[in-house]
Amino acid sequence: MKYKEIISEIKSVRVYKKEEVDANLLKELKQYYEQGKRLVDDIEVEVIRKSRDEVFEQLKDYAGYNDRMIEAPHYLIFLSEEKDHYIENAGYRAQDIMLKAWSLGIASCWITFEDGEIIKNKLGIDSDKKLAALIALGYEEPQFKVLYEKGKYNTSSNVKVIDDNTSERLGIRDLVFSKEWGKKADPDELVNYGLLEGFFYGILAPSYKNRQPWRFIVDNGTVVLAVKKDIYVTEYKEKIDTAVIMLYFEAIIESTLYDITWKFGKPEKDYKVPCDYKIAAYCIV
Ligand SMILES: Cc1cc2nc3c(=O)[nH]c(=O)nc-3n(C[C@H](O)[C@H](O)[C@H](O)COP(=O)(O)O)c2cc1C
Repeated sequence: MKYKEIISEIKSVRVYKKEEVDANLLKELKQYYEQGKRLVDDIEVEVIRKSRDEVFEQLKDYAGYNDRMIEAPHYLIFLSEEKDHYIENAGYRAQDIMLKAWSLGIASCWITFEDGEIIKNKLGIDSDKKLAALIALGYEEPQFKVLYEKGKYNTSSNVKVIDDNTSERLGIRDLVFSKEWGKKADPDELVNYGLLEGFFYGILAPSYKNRQPWRFIVDNGTVVLAVKKDIYVTEYKEKIDTAVIMLYFEAIIESTLYDITWKFGKPEKDYKVPCDYKIAAYCIV
């Protein structure tokens, strides 16, 4: 997959055309999923595709930001065996599917939820596996944001239309530290390690409410990933945010340099990470 190209284009899509996605494309997506990237090898994950009529009304007041469910022609429901890091594993695989879908012209969006058992119940899913991800899927209905210039009459001449393609992102300088917490990394140093692109594209990763909770510490050949703990963010959302950035960073480094493997947990060295952050994982580059 051309990760750089896709990552620089993809966005969350919340308004979809009613038409269903071409059956051959859905088949290709399924095949990709079966062979796609995994974060943890031995966790069984089942993906169920359901239609609008099977999901939208049922979850209307139970999923999405402020329980505002997203209407789409298809939904992917990821059910996982409950093992260590099963949420991160499902999040990583779901995001990889979303990138693949985008490469096929199919848009998507994460849909958050509080209680997976309630969602399963509402959808009539009888399974021992845990609900690990819920994704809306379909063709994008193009939307435009219309900004009216202040203090002027609303006529077509003073209406500015902008594409709503982008959500804002923090800069690499805010997110990447060198050797210890708080010491900003020098981009030249990141180039020397071959890591700049990994961060450049990595920080385009989606996150819950776009909170961009990730921070990195580059320490010689080690990249440490720390994630912000917010009281309003559940463990589930924090883990999905973690998994998504792991995928983005890894996919870019692998497409430019070499394979890397993330390890969960923290290295022995004390990086003086403040108490509202926690080290989630690290890798050797
Ligand atoms: C764990 C997670 C849950 C999310 N839940 C929702 C949601 O329920 N509704 C929604 O509209 N967007 C949801 N999003 C999408 C984010 O708001 C979006 O990725 C972020 O604002 C950045 O925008 P972008 O993806 O267009 O770059 C979620 C994203 C993640 C990673």
